[in-house]
Amino acid sequence: MLERLQKNGVYKAIFERRDVREFNSKPLPEEKLKSILLAGHHAPSVGFMQPWDFILIESQEVKDSLAKACQKEILALAIHYEDEKKTKFLSLKLEGLKEAPVTICVTCDPTRGGGHVLGRNSIPETDILSVACCIQNMWLAAYAEGVAMGWVSFYKKTDVREILHIPPHIEPVALISLGFTDNYPQAPILEKENWEKRVQINNLIHYDNWNSSKHNLFK
Ligand SMILES: Cc1cc2nc3c(=O)[nH]c(=O)nc-3n(C[C@H](O)[C@H](O)[C@H](O)COP(=O)(O)O)c2cc1C
Repeated sequence: MLERLQKNGVYKAIFERRDVREFNSKPLPEEKLKSILLAGHHAPSVGFMQPWDFILIESQEVKDSLAKACQKEILALAIHYEDEKKTKFLSLKLEGLKEAPVTICVTCDPTRGGGHVLGRNSIPETDILSVACCIQNMWLAAYAEGVAMGWVSFYKKTDVREILHIPPHIEPVALISLGFTDNYPQAPILEKENWEKRVQINNLIHYDNWNSSKHNLFK
């Protein structure tokens, strides 16, 4: 079991980890990159299938192509948002993708482990969920290393497959920007932008069945 200080460290990382959009030009030391990748590789995974791969992107040309694909998708999605929200949605920073010293495409190989991966037979999307656990481990490790990390998912998978030469059966789950920032957000950027607030946790807790009346577990 963890000592008190170690325990505080875990919760500090959980509560203070942020999605970062702005990066400065400071390079990412290889040791930090390796620690973050290793943390990702130690994530839980359904049937221990470890469906992830990491494409490390340092070429500016490739980063720019990815940012262009994301920009295209943002423009396409913007028709769903009205007025102020639309403007804010459009202004969400894609510069981060181009500025961060390292971008990682984290992928999911649904065929890894063969046709009968333990546990995945019932809920096939557990392979992607395993990759999400991997990315969360990377996020927490990045926080511990003092490294800023951002998750981008506004893209058409076909575009990203084409740019990175990813075979058709492999899912590009996320584009991760890693580097350093001069503006580490104290709260979620979307909260600061009045896009969304954190939901009251009491409203999410049910007792015995979905329709139970409210309790105040958190006073
Ligand atoms: C599955 C997933 C996909 C995301 N995709 C994007 C994205 O495409 N662009 C973006 O700006 N943020 C993206 N985010 C980051 C969220 O906007 C962010 O986590 C959320 O606003 C809460 O902020 P926090 O991570 O700082 O707590 C993504 C997060 C997750 C978990």
